[in-house]
Amino acid sequence: MNDSIQVISKFALQGLETQALRDAALAAKQTLESGSGAGNDFLGWLHLPSSIDEQQFQAIEESAAQLLSECEYVISIGIGGSYLGGKAVIEALSNHFAAYRTDGGPKVLFAGSNIGEDYLYDMMDLVRGHKFGIIVISKSGTTTEPAIAFRLFKEMLEQQEGKEFASRNIVAITDARRGALRRLAIEEGYATFVIPDDVGGRFSVLTPVGLLPIAVAGFDIRALIKGAVEMEQGGDEQVLDYAIARNALYQQGKKIEILANFTPRLHFLAEWWKQLYGESEGKDHKGIFPASVDFTTDLHSMGQWIQDGERTIFETVLSVGDQQHEVIIPNDDVDLDGLNYIAGKNVDYVNKMAELGTRLAHIDGGVPNLLITIPAVTERYLGQLIYFFEKACGVSGYILGVNPFDQPGVEAYKKNMFALLEKPGHEEATAAIKARLKQ
Ligand code: PA5
Repeated sequence: MNDSIQVISKFALQGLETQALRDAALAAKQTLESGSGAGNDFLGWLHLPSSIDEQQFQAIEESAAQLLSECEYVISIGIGGSYLGGKAVIEALSNHFAAYRTDGGPKVLFAGSNIGEDYLYDMMDLVRGHKFGIIVISKSGTTTEPAIAFRLFKEMLEQQEGKEFASRNIVAITDARRGALRRLAIEEGYATFVIPDDVGGRFSVLTPVGLLPIAVAGFDIRALIKGAVEMEQGGDEQVLDYAIARNALYQQGKKIEILANFTPRLHFLAEWWKQLYGESEGKDHKGIFPASVDFTTDLHSMGQWIQDGERTIFETVLSVGDQQHEVIIPNDDVDLDGLNYIAGKNVDYVNKMAELGTRLAHIDGGVPNLLITIPAVTERYLGQLIYFFEKACGVSGYILGVNPFDQPGVEAYKKNMFALLEKPGHEEATAAIKARLKQ
């Protein structure tokens, strides 16, 4: 087994990579590494993995141990970059169906990533009468979705278990100095972790933002960081290959990149990846649209479009080497379902043939195919993959000519929402939007 993820881009790069594009990629990498490009005050993630020291690991592990010792559930509250990385890693490593962890540790739940009333109601219903803790994560400390969820669960926890239990089992992860959450944490005496100033939300999974929920869920954050360090120190060729391939395809009119997995546990990794690339590249009316599919499930829904629809797409397949468990397809004497031809094979063998067959079919259908192989879904390889995608995103964004580290477009809906909610300070916008809606 390889001991690293591998990026194989030959199907896409054949005849596509130009010297100009390789030069552009090398220049973009140089811009990133020298900190001379747009958004260079947000490059703290670049050497983050190798800078995490023993003290930081221990602080996170101790905080996780406190939550583990008293809580049946831990609710991780956050949205966007303050949610998706932790969620992606936990989902990738967890048992698919365990309502509780088999080792007796707390189940990690996620709130604050939507404003679904029924979602919040159901979660409150689930934790009612159970001891729970809260990790509240917000860099700005002012984001509405997590703020609402935190207000609800904080009140519930204080009423249910008392203020002392709540203060012991609420951890705030936020900016070092600014924001409502920092003020509240100081006032209430919560344990806190800092999101560094120079690490933006979508690049923050390897800070306490991702590491604390992952540690609480029982996974090995040291192995995760070890994998990330491996990519930080030895992943540049793969980073360049991927950044070049996707930009070459974009320049050829392939405006949509579909990240495809054949492993259900990777669903949320694709959600994290969509935020990373969408928020980093989609600006100045440019940028590849990042989409994702779960195969073979979506071959029975989106498969038709991908095979035969408009030829503006390319596909990046996340291919996993080994599954954690083996399930053998049994022989059946009667064979009414006609499956005996694969009896004795393990399920993943069939999945791998589906994967290969799909890739070949899509290539034949005019969908260029990039392949990223992951030896197995473990902490270490996820760490490699996360850092690889982050660095490739920085390089790719600079090739495209955008600032990959800001997200000005995210504010537009908030302004309207605050105006519609008549938030103090938004009176003019409220009047304007009301007039607009009357037209
Ligand atoms: O990547 C980003 O910056 C965003 O997705 C933010 O993470 C998200 O909006 C949440 O912001 P905050 O952590 O300030 O609550």
